Amino acid sequence: MPKIFVTRKIPEAGIKKLIDAKYDIDVNPEDKVLSKDELIAFLKKGNYDGVLCLLTDKIDKDVFEAAGSQCKIFANMAVGFDNVDVSAAKEKGIMITNTPGVLTDTVAEHTFALLLAIAHRISEGERFARAGKYHGWEPMMLLGTDVSKKTLGIIGLGRIGSRVAHHAAKGFEMKVLYYDVKRNEEFEKESGAVFCPTVDEVLKNADFVSVHVPLMPATKHLINAESFKAMKKTAYLINTSRGPIVDEKALAEALKSKTIKGAAIDVFENEPAIEPGLINLENIIMTPHLASATEETRNKMAELVAENIIASLSGQKPPNLLA
Ligand code: GLV
Repeated sequence: MPKIFVTRKIPEAGIKKLIDAKYDIDVNPEDKVLSKDELIAFLKKGNYDGVLCLLTDKIDKDVFEAAGSQCKIFANMAVGFDNVDVSAAKEKGIMITNTPGVLTDTVAEHTFALLLAIAHRISEGERFARAGKYHGWEPMMLLGTDVSKKTLGIIGLGRIGSRVAHHAAKGFEMKVLYYDVKRNEEFEKESGAVFCPTVDEVLKNADFVSVHVPLMPATKHLINAESFKAMKKTAYLINTSRGPIVDEKALAEALKSKTIKGAAIDVFENEPAIEPGLINLENIIMTPHLASATEETRNKMAELVAENIIASLSGQKPPNLLA
């Protein structure tokens, strides 16, 4: 019976798939992120054939070594996999998988929720109402910004970026500009999106900039103090990708100095820490890495991660093999 270690409690749908496939499952007994040393201790003891890990686990060569040569797969329950050293896995002949596709709509919805919420000052208005400050309708109270027919700039036109662009173009008649390392002319025809050859061109011309690139050395601090200077003073930044893509200190400074109008972010540079300079600002909305957090989507992610493990340990190519 293959043995699987699950680094933290996940939705039952995924565990059930593994149990139905007659796998022996050990789940981290504490509902907390394991430190690297704790994870290594579990893996050394368990002789597992596979590990189901999460974006909060740092998976590197020490972890692969601790897992032992019988361990064939580390299956990450996330679309992003910057927490995993994929090249070290390749060297060791360990398979790495992720869970793309099943969360695209949910993350695109969350992105749009943030965009609408910051433009319409939803969080600020809510805080205001709860604080007992609402004493009647006023013509000038908490004025926001329209979204319809404005320009959305997408940085990274992958699955999620293109879904956000679709909603913008079809739902809100927005003009869409995008930068990506690869131009997608078919998508341009479908949506009317316009390709920009540089990030800067998107930044300069967009009313809302939404970031959808993976985190890798080339994208760390892709959005930085210079980027905020390039953006319109009236523009908003939305980030549902990975925190380190945006220089968080520079973001706090840009929001404080009104270099840009606002931001709405779901991810942070040093999660779970949040840059202290952001905490007391009114012109930012922050959600705690929730973009894929719906019951339906987390169930699907748990099922897909299990399918990847089952395929890999039954000699088939896992559906989402990265290495
Ligand atoms: C969430 O951030 C994911 O990568 O799935």
